[in-house]
Amino acid sequence: MTRVLDIWWDRRLVGQLTQDKHGELGFAYARAWLDDEAAQPLSASLPKRAEPFTRRECRPFFGGLLPEESQRDAAAQALGVSRANDFALLDRLGGDVAGALQLLPPGEGPTAPAPDQRPTPLDDAGLIRVLDALPVRPLLAGEEGLRLSLAGAQSKVPLVLVDGAVALPAPGQPTTHILKPPISRFAATTENEAFVMRLAAAIGLDVAPVEARIVQDRTFLLVQRYDRAIGDDGFVRRIHQEDFCQALGVPPETKYASEGGPTFKDCFGLLRRVAARPAVDVLKLLDAVIFNVIAGNADAHGKNFSILYGDEGPRLAPLYDLLATVAYPDLSPKFAMKIGKRATLAELDAKGWAAFAADVGIGLPLMRRRVAEISKGVLEKATAVAEELARPELDRTAIEQFANMIRDRADRCALTIAGAMR
Ligand SMILES: Nc1ncnc2c1ncn2[C@@H]1O[C@H](COP(=O)(O)OP(=O)(O)O)[C@@H](O)[C@H]1O
Ligand SMILES: [Mg+2]
Repeated sequence: MTRVLDIWWDRRLVGQLTQDKHGELGFAYARAWLDDEAAQPLSASLPKRAEPFTRRECRPFFGGLLPEESQRDAAAQALGVSRANDFALLDRLGGDVAGALQLLPPGEGPTAPAPDQRPTPLDDAGLIRVLDALPVRPLLAGEEGLRLSLAGAQSKVPLVLVDGAVALPAPGQPTTHILKPPISRFAATTENEAFVMRLAAAIGLDVAPVEARIVQDRTFLLVQRYDRAIGDDGFVRRIHQEDFCQALGVPPETKYASEGGPTFKDCFGLLRRVAARPAVDVLKLLDAVIFNVIAGNADAHGKNFSILYGDEGPRLAPLYDLLATVAYPDLSPKFAMKIGKRATLAELDAKGWAAFAADVGIGLPLMRRRVAEISKGVLEKATAVAEELARPELDRTAIEQFANMIRDRADRCALTIAGAMR
């Protein structure tokens, strides 16, 4: 028997995801979607065509909506489905995903929540219960009325706010925020991600707004979703997005460049091909690369950059998941994507930056100028961002350590580039 999930985009049927009796995944666009010239493809890797897409063709996009690694394992366990079964996981989790889509069983159209179905605000005890549940129930998988999915290998759950308080969404309600608990194996990851994301914002990069919150003595990060638009009437609309692996047809298991995932050359090429304003987005990506080097975020792989399909056409999404991973000696210090064949800051000499500029088709003078400017911006802003963040309940010492480490790295980048320009 073939199983089916309807794919909805803003209350319109885009097509169907299927699983045949051999367990094979397939996708086909709906006739009406194909016939409507204004209707967009779901992904840069799934161009509109009448012929169905094979598992190999459609799995990077659809599988790419699901949690990864241990999060995937735990979600599958909580739901009682096999971890390898993308279809079953999407069936149970695909009601609210990254971007505009909803994946729903046939007959279950994308209805708005009924008037008597309201989000459930969480008091302190409720929040603690959610934080305690997430390790065994990623995305709160299996909880009554919740069908939520996001990629990534870390614990998280998307939700809504009611008068500023964290709330579980009503069935079908678009989520607007993402709650990320601290990563228990590593110290002060809430402070780390909050600091790095805010530092990026302070130097003018386009980055998702974040807040470090505390409940009793537990911290968590609250990230505002950029793939949701809130109208004056309070109505929330989902905006489509896909990450670079989805857009390039790379399955999540090989997201790292060392396993065949996207390289920076692929990423810059993708933006030049699909962005409505490629020149603008290429510069934004360049800034992000330089910032990640300075911030020590070695985990900037192809699922940590996205394309947002807003009203003005495809563009590089705001930055997200910025963490100074080099602060943790147990994590690989090697960049997820090499920069001019260099994999660490220590290796990244002036020749490396020049090779990178050539690789991704950016003029060397421009690249040097941006390295110098971003280093300077970080050196100017790091102290103020750290002070602003360091409320008494947070780990102030850790925040100062992150700031010091990142300042040292900015100094080093500035020196390398200044040396090259003399
Ligand atoms: N601010 C945001 N707005 C919309 N989508 C986001 C935002 N932040 C993350 N995402 C989506 O959620 C996924 C997981 O988030 P991420 O912060 O990367 O988690 P992890 O640390 O587990 O990798 C991302 O790959 C992206 O698709
Ligand atoms: Mg991520």
